[in-house]
Amino acid sequence: MNDHAGDPVRLWHRRADGCVLLDGFHALKHAVRFGAEVPVAVTADRRAALALADELAPDVRATLDALLTEVPEAVYGALVARPHPTAVAALAVRPAREANLRALASAPRRAPVVVLDNPRNLGNAGAVIRLAAGFGATGVVTTGTLDPWHPTVVRGGAGLHFATAVERLAVDELPPGPVFALDPEGEDIRGVKLPDDAVLAFGSERSGLSAELRARTDHLLALPMRPQVSSYNLATSVAMTLYHWSADGGAPGAR
Ligand SMILES: C[S@@+](CC[C@H](N)C(=O)[O-])C[C@H]1O[C@@H](n2cnc3c(N)ncnc32)[C@H](O)[C@@H]1O
Repeated sequence: MNDHAGDPVRLWHRRADGCVLLDGFHALKHAVRFGAEVPVAVTADRRAALALADELAPDVRATLDALLTEVPEAVYGALVARPHPTAVAALAVRPAREANLRALASAPRRAPVVVLDNPRNLGNAGAVIRLAAGFGATGVVTTGTLDPWHPTVVRGGAGLHFATAVERLAVDELPPGPVFALDPEGEDIRGVKLPDDAVLAFGSERSGLSAELRARTDHLLALPMRPQVSSYNLATSVAMTLYHWSADGGAPGAR
């Protein structure tokens, strides 16, 4: 009898430490697509989950079929803080830090690394990881105290932590490459070509870029913004900057 054919609840409790929660069908689908190791996956409605796979994820349908164990709704509800509309939940093994550090340091780099300098908002961090995955960024590094693998960040990232390298580092440990830091006081980004090995740094929602990060900065860039508007939201700033990089030829799918 393999792991998945055993008691999924016992397996869940045995593997919960060292794993992250994949909350809902879409998070599981993304994690599986990007090679996550999933020791246990449950659903309160296997038929509905596989119908979603037929419709939205035929590429991983067979894997999901093999992974998903149906459990009573009350059992599913007891495993998650808040039931997801798709009634799917799974655990995925968090990638080794060493592997992520290798990916972040690899050269030559074909896509930027995004740095969030002391971010405060877990939802923003999740949204940025989703963006980085979509644009094929090399990784997302956070500085400061926020854990980029916090369950709320993983939920916001829709399972896409597995599509890019996500780690927390100190400013003096940032990957190599020219640092382009975003700040409303910088030079207009529209006149600047962002190289593929750029380190794109964004400040905290509360206080912007730290003095330490500014000291590491090679270029300070501003996103176009009408006078009297103070700043954009952190995640939308990352979106505009990654789009600007990609519009110059950086191609999603090129990693
Ligand atoms: C919400 S803003 C921070 C606002 C903060 N009160 C401050 O003093 O900078 C979060 C981050 O988004 C980026 N950002 C927001 N608006 C920007 C703009 N117009 N140009 C460049 N970066 C911007 C910067 O990296 C900024 O540190």
